Amino acid sequence: MSNQSNSLRTVSIVGTGIYLPEKVMTNRDLEKIVDTSDEWIYTRTGMHERRIARDDEYTSDLAANAGRAALADAGVSPEEVDLLIVATLSPDAFFPSTACYVQDKIAAKNAYCYDLGAACSGSLFALETAKNQIATGAVETALVIGAEKMSTFLNWKDRNTCVLFGDGAGAFVLKATGAERGIMDGVFGSDGSLAHLLSTPGGGTRHPMTHDMLDEGLQYLQMEGREVYKHAVTGMKKSVLDVLEKHNLSSDDIACFIAHQANARIIEAIGKRLKVEDRMFMNVEKYANTSAAALPIAVHEAVQAGKVKKGDLMLLVAFGGGFTWGANIVEW
Ligand code: ACO
Repeated sequence: MSNQSNSLRTVSIVGTGIYLPEKVMTNRDLEKIVDTSDEWIYTRTGMHERRIARDDEYTSDLAANAGRAALADAGVSPEEVDLLIVATLSPDAFFPSTACYVQDKIAAKNAYCYDLGAACSGSLFALETAKNQIATGAVETALVIGAEKMSTFLNWKDRNTCVLFGDGAGAFVLKATGAERGIMDGVFGSDGSLAHLLSTPGGGTRHPMTHDMLDEGLQYLQMEGREVYKHAVTGMKKSVLDVLEKHNLSSDDIACFIAHQANARIIEAIGKRLKVEDRMFMNVEKYANTSAAALPIAVHEAVQAGKVKKGDLMLLVAFGGGFTWGANIVEW
């Protein structure tokens, strides 16, 4: 049985790679910066530490390192890449796209490149976009990268937000293969009426870059934590059920569930409600929430840890600012 209708090609993830900056910031380190405690952070979020990029290390550097690692894993040369998408909410600049900077850094000179903005769901959306372009035959090889330098956009005086995020990047290489199912069609959604609950409002046309805007701190990420928590749990649970139903599968068919690594309590709540706690992958304790980078980093580490083997199905599910959400199932 093919995943795709209308004789579309089956597309697989043929390589993964990650990059995490060297500097580790622990909860204890945060105690010296804001009024918080290791105990508060760990019990509320499951996080022990996160990585912080150097000042001279940009989102495109994190992305390029993860991209190179994924290409090496896939045995694909940079020149073979036709399409390069970077999912990020912390780009190097408004324009050109971070993907164009990455193209130059990894010498993927035959690729066409763009960024995709869907916050923490970005990598999942980019995976779907790239998969569809390969499935139709529009391109042969795609490099999808989720990369974030969240530390630039955090208010290091706001304990409500600065403890929750980290920097990093993860990448997938995609190709058409003879796999039975490959990357199966996903389910996706958005609700722009809830945009105000999670955003970095300043710097664009809504709140242009002025001294007043900067004094108000609108250049930093802002969040209504409790509201985000509620929507993330219900949204991701529904996405999982919808994508299983779409493919007439049950949770027993899935070897590993990989949710956006926002917070251990969110992941545990989804696992409990779906009765799949034993198969929920988690690495949020090491990296905190790396937004669009979290899903590809988690997939890479789940594979490395032997949680999925060739032929197994893994279910990816994400939720993020916008709001945006979605899920898909990938045959490994
Ligand atoms: N250290 C110590 N105290 C803190 C800290 C901190 N770092 N941050 C907040 N507090 C305080 C608050 O000020 C509040 O104090 P008050 O009662 O005196 O006002 C108290 O702790 C309780 O705050 P709550 O917000 O009620 O704590 P809650 O149990 O809801 O946990 C948290 C907060 C962890 C942010 C939770 O709401 C959450 O996980 N939300 C989801 C956020 C998220 O994952 N966002 C990521 C982006 S979206 C995504 O990726 C899906």
